[in-house]
Formats: sequence, structure tokens, C-alpha cells
Amino acid sequence: MKTFAKTLIVSALLITGTAFAETEPTTQEVIARHALMKSLGGAAKALGGMASGEVAFDAAAAEAAKQALIAGAAGIEEKFTANVEDAGSAAKPEVWTNWDDFLAKGKALGTAAEALDVASAETIGAGMGGIGGSCKGCHTDYRVAN
Ligand code: HEC
Repeated sequence: MKTFAKTLIVSALLITGTAFAETEPTTQEVIARHALMKSLGGAAKALGGMASGEVAFDAAAAEAAKQALIAGAAGIEEKFTANVEDAGSAAKPEVWTNWDDFLAKGKALGTAAEALDVASAETIGAGMGGIGGSCKGCHTDYRVAN
């Protein structure tokens, strides 16, 4: 590709700030960890919807989403072990240079999810700050363009 074309693409990406979200991953490793993160996103959305009243409370769905968060948190270590080159990844290199801290942040999500009381929309709401905080706590340090 000609340099000027590359420069245009880079500038466009800098402006939108979504460089990585718009590039599809090509490696199995990154595809798999995106799938894991999307499952976390789906579970958090389901719980958040019930907490806000946007979606009717459903005990079985709430428990399933809680379990998905616990399982997802437990899967972070395995899904991130390989530091592969992939333009579709938004993982910062610090994931692997600060591996223990990264894992601790994954564990923090697991702990928050375990502690989540899914008995009612209100109790879910009370625990969602801890869940969202643990997503954000890791993304702030380890994910580009969050
Ligand atoms: C221990 C760190 C960590 C925790 C905890 C964490 N994430 Fe992530 N997440 C990441 C990293 C790193 C990426 C970027 C991965 C990549 O692109 O290779 C990411 C990416 C994502 C993505 C984008 C996936 C895609 O297809 O591009 C979503 C959505 C997401 N996370 C949701 C969540 C939600 C919701 C939670 C909490 C319930 C959460 N994450 C908790 C580290 C974490």
C-alpha cells in the first residue's frame, strides 16, 4: 500500500478512536478472547437490563448471566495466555508485561460475580457497580480505546 493511503487510514483511525474495533481479528486466539468478552458483555447487559427495569426480572436468566460472568472471568487466563500479533486486537502489551496484575483484575471480576445476589432486580442493581467497576478496572489499564 502507498504511504499516503496508509497515512489517511491512520488519521481516520486516530480521529474516530476506534482503531481496533473496526479491524476484525484474524487469529484464533483473538477471535476466541473477543467471544469470551462478548459473552461477558451479554451477561452484564442482561443483568443491567433487569436492574434498571428495562427488562422484566427473570430468576433463571439472572442466575445464568451470573454464572456466565463467573465462567467468563475464570476463562480469562487461558484466553489471554498467547500474546499473538493481530491488528484486530485491542489488548495492550501491558497485559503480558503485568500478567499477575492482569490476572488479579480477572479474579476481581470473578469475586464480584460470585458475590452478586440475583434474588431480585434490586439486589442485582446493588451488585452491578462492582461488576461494572471490575470490567472498567481492567479495560482502563489493558484495553486500547475503551
Ligand atoms: C482482566 C481484564 C479484563 C476484564 C476483567 C474484563 N475485560 Fe473486557 N477486555 C479486556 C481486554 C484486554 C480486551 C481487548 C481484547 C483484544 O482485543 O484482544 C477486552 C475487550 C472487551 C470487549 C470487546 C470485544 C470485541 O469483540 O472487540 C468487550 C465487549 C468487553 N471486553 C466486555 C467486558 C465486560 C462486560 C467485562 C466485565 C463484565 C469485561 N470485559 C471484563 C480485558 C478485560
